[in-house]
Amino acid sequence: MVRETEMGSATGPDARIDGLGELDALEAAGRAAFAAAADAAAVEAARVEYLGQKHGKLRAAQERLKQLPAEARRVYGQRFNAVREALEAAHRAARERLERPARAEAGVDVTLPGRRPRLGHLHPLTQTANELIDVFGRFGFSVARGPEVEDVFHNFEALNIPPAHPARDPLDNFYLPGGRMLRSQTSTVQIRVMESQPPPVRVIAIGRVYRPDAVDATHSFMFHQIEGLMVDRGVTMADLKTVLRLFAESYLGRDVKIRFRPSFFPFTEPSVEVDMQWHGGERWVEMGGAGMVDPNVFRAVGYDPEEVTGFAFGLGIERLCMRRHGIDDIRLLYQNDARFLAQF
Ligand code: PHE
Repeated sequence: MVRETEMGSATGPDARIDGLGELDALEAAGRAAFAAAADAAAVEAARVEYLGQKHGKLRAAQERLKQLPAEARRVYGQRFNAVREALEAAHRAARERLERPARAEAGVDVTLPGRRPRLGHLHPLTQTANELIDVFGRFGFSVARGPEVEDVFHNFEALNIPPAHPARDPLDNFYLPGGRMLRSQTSTVQIRVMESQPPPVRVIAIGRVYRPDAVDATHSFMFHQIEGLMVDRGVTMADLKTVLRLFAESYLGRDVKIRFRPSFFPFTEPSVEVDMQWHGGERWVEMGGAGMVDPNVFRAVGYDPEEVTGFAFGLGIERLCMRRHGIDDIRLLYQNDARFLAQF
């Protein structure tokens, strides 16, 4: 109703009472003065001007109240009290506003509500790697490591890949100066392990490998492999298949099927591609390669191929991780978008 008066409407019952518009103006001016006060002195000056006991503007308005007839005094008085409360609140707000930055500068603003810190967690690829280490650990495999910057001997030569072999093509490898390269496969670690210890061997190696592939939804110039190697007397292809099947069932679920397709790798004989199939689906997905360690590899590391046999396999970690979590683009694993990563 007061607002109507201010806007010039003469229809309300209080419209005729003198001085209500003046009280509105007083409130607006007082609020503005407290809001604009930039330091303690300005707040105090505004307080004296509006709320001052002797010469304050509110005090003057109160004097006018006394001169009004009874009916008008009731209406004016209500409005007067509201304006006084508003200006006292504005005064308090101005003082708090000036105190707060000082506290923030001093360090912590203890008046702010608490905020729960967001906890980070391991990257899905790291989670996958840890689970693989776990599963194979239960089968008695320990973890071995090798360098990502390798020499040609460990990446090719000892793996029975001769100098003219197409796998050595500079277009398919990252060669470095001084006969070094970024390893193109974790099979390098097979060699390093066998060089450093006699049989029996039961290890896995997990790590990055590098190939100059064009990046798309399923390819990257860097990805991760898990390599497995088991060497002992009497190790057979049946052991290989059993270990891979048990692994697939524990990592991906009981309804996973596994299939071997004849293939070729210079360092295994016979060699196979390892395919897996989920939920009785139609599609077989290639997960990597495997085979029985070639006698030439045993000879390169000083093992006697008449004494021991062994199997080796190499699987793509990204594929396993993507299959497990339903991720359809490998690039998501490297972009580190927190909205993506928070889901795992
Ligand atoms: N190193 C092979 C690859 O990267 C995979 C493999 C590992 C095959 C071990 C056989 C034995 O494709």
